[in-house]
Amino acid sequence: MTLQLKPLHPFAAEASGIDLSRPLEPAQVRAIEQAMDTHAVLVWRAQPLDQDQQIALAKSFGPLDLGLRKLKGGPHRFKYAELADISNVKADGDVADREHAKIVGNVANQLWHSDSSFQRPRAKYSMLSAAVVPSFGGDTEYADLRMAYDALPAWLKAKVADLKAVHHALHSRFLLGDTNYTEEQQRAIAPAVWPLVQTDPRSGRKILFIGIHACEIIGMTPAEGRMLIMDLIEHATQREFVHRHHWQVGDLVIWDNTATVHRGRWYDFDERRELRRATTEEVITSPEAMALDPAETVPHT
Ligand code: OGA
Ligand code: MN
Repeated sequence: MTLQLKPLHPFAAEASGIDLSRPLEPAQVRAIEQAMDTHAVLVWRAQPLDQDQQIALAKSFGPLDLGLRKLKGGPHRFKYAELADISNVKADGDVADREHAKIVGNVANQLWHSDSSFQRPRAKYSMLSAAVVPSFGGDTEYADLRMAYDALPAWLKAKVADLKAVHHALHSRFLLGDTNYTEEQQRAIAPAVWPLVQTDPRSGRKILFIGIHACEIIGMTPAEGRMLIMDLIEHATQREFVHRHHWQVGDLVIWDNTATVHRGRWYDFDERRELRRATTEEVITSPEAMALDPAETVPHT
């Protein structure tokens, strides 16, 4: 069978016809990449993957991203450090209590973000697999940053054209009052700089690259920069640009972090929710990001 797509939203589709648990043929990898250029979010139903299969799938699309595990270390439930534990469950398998670091991580995921945008390279594809879902809530929403760019009024397109944002790993945590990090942890992931407007050379489309990790606009005061970031996030996540995914066990969703932002939605943290994510690193190709002066890519803060 070949890849079949059923549109769910202008930028999201349900995909089927390829067994993701088996090694992919190069032609299947290309077909999925092409589909991702158009849709940016692909939902696969009834494709439960074990850890080895999920890692193998992700590696067919590029090198893997470690995200915040670089910073946190500590006990991990999975065989691979590259698998992110998107759950409210501790390393011993019990549901975490409210004060546990896992819970603030869950809440931070409920803010609109692009995975690992605080790193260079950042995340390209995230592949999230659902093992246990709560009885209510816990959906994930996606918003398309290409539609967001296209819908900007002309004056705002002109205003953002040459602006760059600083993205920091701990900004969202600080916003949530989670400030208990050592100096060493704070330094472990240096911030990254990304142009607000980037062109995807594969689709030729412009992207408004924002999200909650963006904490500053270079050349603006902190107040004006943050207000602009908040306004742009609000613009990008208007209802008509948002696709909401309701999880079933065995779902796998692949999304493009350079073309979308996403957020988890509320669920009762006393209930178990267990998802597992593998993530590829971006090969930087947008001309705007490639044109950054290397001295500018990691600012001093
Ligand atoms: C993620 C993420 C949101 C959710 O896996 O990167 O942000 O709904 N997940 O769990
Ligand atoms: Mn995420």
